[in-house]
Amino acid sequence: MRSSAAPFAALPHLALPLAAMLQMGCGSDSSDSDTNTNTSNATSTGAPATNATGATGATHSTGSQTGSTGDGSGVSYAADVAPIFEERCTHCHHQNATAIPNIADPFDPTNGLIVFANTWHEGHPETPEMNVVPGDPANSFLIQKISDPALTAGDPMPWSPDRVTEQQAADLRQWITDGAMNDAFYASNIQRIFGTPGLLGNPGGKCSYCHFDGGVEPNLGDPFDPENGVVNVAATTEGWTRVIPGDPDNSLLIVRVEATETTEAGDPMPKVYPTLTPAEIDTVTQWILDGAQNN
Ligand code: HEC
Ligand code: HEC
Repeated sequence: MRSSAAPFAALPHLALPLAAMLQMGCGSDSSDSDTNTNTSNATSTGAPATNATGATGATHSTGSQTGSTGDGSGVSYAADVAPIFEERCTHCHHQNATAIPNIADPFDPTNGLIVFANTWHEGHPETPEMNVVPGDPANSFLIQKISDPALTAGDPMPWSPDRVTEQQAADLRQWITDGAMNDAFYASNIQRIFGTPGLLGNPGGKCSYCHFDGGVEPNLGDPFDPENGVVNVAATTEGWTRVIPGDPDNSLLIVRVEATETTEAGDPMPKVYPTLTPAEIDTVTQWILDGAQNN
């Protein structure tokens, strides 16, 4: 997995309130339900979700809110909390996605999780004002986002874009069959599916949340980049080429978006991160209770 170090040139959406921006993106494609993803995977919070981080969190089932601030419960940010965030959150919540908190560095003084006010508070006064209040998980919106499957202030986290629609899959095939070119069909149909990096995937994008320059390879913000794009580029997944012009069936991108389960060709795309396990939620809660320290 790659970190997200390379900066974007510009982030023109910064002036827009987050909720308005997301509505814009969702409203443009009525067959999608991007705002209503809080159904299937959200209800599985208590179920035995795949624990992709292995043992992380399991050793810190603290029974949540019994400790007191700074009581030295033994939860360490670097050892216990950061691995959870890295596995499930930072593909989207990185330093360049400035409309949402930077979870890759919660202590970032401008955009970090701790200084970032809850953008949903105004329309949802029942939610806390801040995403994290050190020492006070009950007033930290972050805990609601990761633990309340019935949340109405935005979607439960980790979030994921919807699967591509049948029409979008057909368009991707058509684009590759016709030579995977940077033409009018690409601009009007395909770019919308990939999304615009830095704009949280809007309008209607489903890939660029994770696949941007400096994020997870490939960079779907520029599919024609000979090094980190997709067209005629060898895949990281062994034995595959990402996109072979004229040959959708042997293009890994098509295989991934059409797949419904993990195969030797990898995970279906867009990727879905499982909800946090109760033990992982406890670990994050305990970290806040202990003062959200950089320890
Ligand atoms: C695929 C991208 C993606 C992933 C992965 C993801 N998020 Fe988010 N997150 C978003 C988007 C988009 C929003 C804004 C919409 C919303 O609040 O529902 C958001 C909003 C939030 C907010 C609210 C910020 C505010 O002030 O409104 C919090 C807190 C949050 N995410 C935490 C997390 C945590 C913790 C994880 C990992 C467990 C995570 N997210 C994983 C995309 C993502
Ligand atoms: C929530 C994050 C996320 C989203 C959204 C996402 N991906 Fe991915 N994608 C990943 C990660 C992580 C990997 C690397 C691990 C793997 O291969 O599964 C990956 C790998 C891939 C690969 C394989 C690259 C290679 O060289 O092996 C392709 C192709 C791909 N994604 C296409 C897409 C497309 C197309 C979309 C949108 C329809 C999409 N992804 C949306 C996270 C995401």
